[in-house]
Amino acid sequence: MKPIQRVAVIGAGTMGSGIASHLANAGISVLLLDVVPSGSTDRNQITEQSLERIRKSRPPALMTPEVIEQIEIGNLEDDLHRISEVDWIAEAIVERLDAKHQLYVEIEEHRRPGTIVSSNTSTIPLRDLTQEMPPELQRDFCITHFFNPVRYMRLLEIVAGPATDPEVIKRLTACCDLQLGKGVVHCKDTPGFLGNRVGLFAIQCAIATAVRMELAPEVADAVMGRPMGMPKTGVFRLYDLIGLDLMLDVLESLRNTLAADDAFHPWIDCPAVESLVEQGHTGDKRGAGFYRTRQTTDGRKAEVFDLQRQEYRPLIRPQLPAMAAGGAGGLRALVERDDPAGQFAWEVLSRTLVYAASLVPDVADELVSIDEAMKLGFSWTHGPFGMIDLLGTQWFCERIEQDGLVVPPLLQVAAGQPMYRANRGRLQQMTIDGSYRDVERPAGVIRLGDVAKTTEAIITNDAATLWDLGDGVACFEFHTKANSLDSRTMSLLDQALSIVETRFRGLVVYNEGPHFSVGVNLQCVLDWAEQRAWSEIEAMLSDFQQTCKRMKYSSFPVVGAPAGMSIGGGFEVLLHCDVLQAHANTVVGLVETKVGLIPAGGGCKELLLRWSEVEGDEGIPPQQRVFDLIAAGVTASSPLEAMPLKMFRALDQFTMNRDRVLAAAKTRVISMIDGYQPPVQKRLVPTHIGPLIQRCEELRDAKQISPHDLTVGHALAKILCDSAVDKESYLTEDELFEREREAFLGLVQTPQTIARIRHMLATGRPLKN
Ligand code: NAI
Repeated sequence: MKPIQRVAVIGAGTMGSGIASHLANAGISVLLLDVVPSGSTDRNQITEQSLERIRKSRPPALMTPEVIEQIEIGNLEDDLHRISEVDWIAEAIVERLDAKHQLYVEIEEHRRPGTIVSSNTSTIPLRDLTQEMPPELQRDFCITHFFNPVRYMRLLEIVAGPATDPEVIKRLTACCDLQLGKGVVHCKDTPGFLGNRVGLFAIQCAIATAVRMELAPEVADAVMGRPMGMPKTGVFRLYDLIGLDLMLDVLESLRNTLAADDAFHPWIDCPAVESLVEQGHTGDKRGAGFYRTRQTTDGRKAEVFDLQRQEYRPLIRPQLPAMAAGGAGGLRALVERDDPAGQFAWEVLSRTLVYAASLVPDVADELVSIDEAMKLGFSWTHGPFGMIDLLGTQWFCERIEQDGLVVPPLLQVAAGQPMYRANRGRLQQMTIDGSYRDVERPAGVIRLGDVAKTTEAIITNDAATLWDLGDGVACFEFHTKANSLDSRTMSLLDQALSIVETRFRGLVVYNEGPHFSVGVNLQCVLDWAEQRAWSEIEAMLSDFQQTCKRMKYSSFPVVGAPAGMSIGGGFEVLLHCDVLQAHANTVVGLVETKVGLIPAGGGCKELLLRWSEVEGDEGIPPQQRVFDLIAAGVTASSPLEAMPLKMFRALDQFTMNRDRVLAAAKTRVISMIDGYQPPVQKRLVPTHIGPLIQRCEELRDAKQISPHDLTVGHALAKILCDSAVDKESYLTEDELFEREREAFLGLVQTPQTIARIRHMLATGRPLKN
């Protein structure tokens, strides 16, 4: 199969720019075209502006700024003929059928026969897009529905028509899965495909229910976020993020394409949204939607649109009793609560899950397709059928019947059986005839979630688990909130190392949370600091360091396989692995200074060792390089950015598809087993502290840092350098560990650091003091 090497993206708006950027991230060259704006002398004005937006986008659309070189720009009048050079033409112009039809006619005049053509439409059925197409084009045509922002949203829905050549779908699937790293879900040509069909139903149902129950948007968002296993944007904030006007367009299109008796119809009209759009409040892009921030004489104030009074009012942080995140018992406990939060959760969830179940088999044959679409496209922790299993099929059916809802055929034939089950080490899903069928993952994909459902843990506690991946490879998983690390994690890792030593040949450190780890549990540190329990803190640091050291020098290879944020202590664990096999969107960095601390799990030590291996680094001493990275809490937003910072090393690799990271890491470990030799312990030549102290003071004099930053800077300098240098002596790794602990303990006893930690825990943002 010929790989896709060059792509023309037509339409350089939100989606076209995102698709072009992500193709560039994958090393694919792009020709980006748009119309010539009327009245402008600059014929490429729209695509030039698109490049500018790409450069400035946050979170960054590019894995590293240089990849923008892969994108060539042009316009549809002067450059359309150049589509004859490409393998795939990705259309992402306005959502208007007439405009798309006209463009396809022009494309057909210029494309090479066999060039794939796809549309990014979110709502137009494929049969309408292909209506006037010649058969040759229909053969090469399909829908590739990317989600925004393209680099970060994992779902890609592909829709083939009856005339589409299966080879076209195979080639596109391979490119989008392996090169772009997307979770490809093949959908039937039905309105809204899968993600939007279920996701928008849930959103509309939630808005209408909140309005009917007179529940404030901030309360509805607090419930329909983490407690339901959904992103913390909830539903009203998600509306603001997508754009209220865009949502109205998509809903209008669904209204026109859904069958007249579809259960979605009663939820489509949304007067609250219409009224906001009429007032120009279309969401974040216009600075106001359901939420807005206003500049007042007292500073910036967050406001929310009061759905009853139809005006903005100050935002009130909801005071809801503690709600467990939507895991096993958590979801059931949430919907059984006898209060408005529980009632809201039940009403939205029951209707959404019933709707999703009613889509089998007409819209999707397999439950797993719908679950994947919701997990990858809307970042739900569990898909609808995973949630039915959490609630219990029997319990769920009885309760919806009590509510007078019709039990869909799938749930009737299931007769109380779970939607998924483990059978002889295989994960199976319920089908519409009441039997189970294997869940097939693409070759090269291992899901730790599947391993957990089909095998027994080797050892486990509340914070972590050791799994058997087969072929002599074990996997160590963190699973606390945001995967923060505490003494339970490290004690289990220590036990795991002993087990791997005797029963396995290699170890992968990996998990399937949104973030590999946000670092050491700051709440624990704060609790101990408030109790002045310094020896507990010292013991925790020492265990952390010794466990990392033990892992580094163990007799078997260890591969760290991070995704998402891997910062602070989380990154220190990775720094002690032999190599990394990371996901392409991994963010790494030692950010402890943001809370007035320094890395004390071997982070200073490992970065210093790495920089000390560089010969003749433009005359800049390694201590200064490491100081600058740690003092400023620098993070790299991709492995490519991490390489020049030595946060990643030459042997570290990355995988574009999150779903392929674990299998790639396992393969990597296996390739290292034969002849594996643990690294050799290194010693460092000490250097004088003077230059770093001078650097701190220059920054202070230039008012670039606060007095407490200066204190933190001095503490960091004292780890990396010596006040008196004996040319004959060496620094060992254990001495560096000791210095890290000493500096950490000194800083954690200062009121400024305590204030920074408290602020971070309360707001998620650093305090500048
Ligand atoms: P946009 O409005 O940001 O960009 C559309 C671009 O198409 C503009 O640059 C415009 O100059 C260009 N254009 C307009 N008429 C044209 C024509 N006749 N020929 C060539 N170019 C023309 O739109 P956006 O949001 O990027 O959407 C593009 C497509 O992607 C639509 O089909 C939309 O339904 C779909 N989509 C949008 C998503 C989103 O979140 N914005 C998500 C998924 C799909």
